[in-house]
Amino acid sequence: MDRAEFSWTGPIVVGVSLALVATAAAAQQSATRGREIYETICISCHGPDGKGGVNLELEKVQAPPDFTDCAFANREPDRGFLAVAHDGGPARGFSPLMPPWGGAFSEADLQLAVTHIRSFCTDQNWARGELNLPLALVTGKAFPEDEAVMRVTSQSGNVTTKFVYERRFGALNQWEVAVPISSVDQAAGRSTGVGDIALGYKRVLSHSLDRGNIFSASAEVKLPSGRESKGLGDGFAVFEPFVTFGQILPRDGFIQTQVGFGFPLKDGHDAEAFWRAAVGKSFTQGRFGRYWSPMVEILGARTLGSGSGVDWDVVPGMQVTLNARQHVRLAGGVRLPVTDADVRRKSVLVYLLWDWYEGGFFQGW
Ligand code: HEC
Repeated sequence: MDRAEFSWTGPIVVGVSLALVATAAAAQQSATRGREIYETICISCHGPDGKGGVNLELEKVQAPPDFTDCAFANREPDRGFLAVAHDGGPARGFSPLMPPWGGAFSEADLQLAVTHIRSFCTDQNWARGELNLPLALVTGKAFPEDEAVMRVTSQSGNVTTKFVYERRFGALNQWEVAVPISSVDQAAGRSTGVGDIALGYKRVLSHSLDRGNIFSASAEVKLPSGRESKGLGDGFAVFEPFVTFGQILPRDGFIQTQVGFGFPLKDGHDAEAFWRAAVGKSFTQGRFGRYWSPMVEILGARTLGSGSGVDWDVVPGMQVTLNARQHVRLAGGVRLPVTDADVRRKSVLVYLLWDWYEGGFFQGW
């Protein structure tokens, strides 16, 4: 070969093209295999289009779900679907009429069938359940929720129980209301009552399972519903805009961050900036069992305009799924002041979370 004509780009282009063709062919093969498995075993109950309607005897007792309904299907992570396909409905507190297939098919094959199920939902505006990371104790999450959360905060004899109700609308939006009931120790004695009620709106700005992240913007208004004279409220409304970001890390790790401001809607009060991060990792008990998520949060807040320093707190905590369906979860932790630790008090934080979309509180145990 004439030296001048020799070029490395030719072989590289050919090599890369072959690799791409091979990857595409492998993906095609997996898709075909997934469809084959689905059409061999799953189709008899779930139907060719994933909507059921084929096994009418079965449906008199328990209708299978509609996999074309993205509002339902996309919020479920693959591991939940795979658990049910492998170990049967009871693995997630569903009917035993959904049989276990783990004895007859490998987990890899069942995963391919689950991937085929994914093709029934065609509106990818609905964020995937994998991006629904474990809720931290203080740091907000980016995923839109259908949840009810009861949060208890206890700090030197003062206890606040906050009832939070969250509801999605459309693929990307959520509104919420939070009602705190406080019991506080004051010089004049103990007072108990409703605190400052908050209303919030959240919108998902971007999400991608490939990138493993989700980003949302929120706005919240805290109303002066708590009696200030009794120590139950601030006595003025506060507007809180903030953004939240969640990123899946390798091996079931995650990081969630939140940055925002609190603007008092009354003269003479300073605005506040806050930033928070939660880093953790989930561990599965057994192959598809209980989910334990230890995490640590770092919280920073600073009053603007006053020249005051930053308040830093650290919150070690843990979340655990309580039932088979994993839609009832408990978390607890301690909020430890790092700066001014001699004057700022530590608090104990606990929440009980119920994802009401997934079923009643007492279902799926
Ligand atoms: C004998 C009928 C039958 C067959 C065959 C069957 N399923 Fe199901 N499946 C059901 C029923 C019934 C439900 C609904 C259970 C419930 O809601 O309690 C269900 C539910 C599911 C769910 C929903 C879990 C959730 O989170 O709501 C998944 C995923 C699933 N099946 C996957 C599969 C796969 C994959 C196959 C094939 C490997 C398969 N099924 C074969 C009857 C069947």
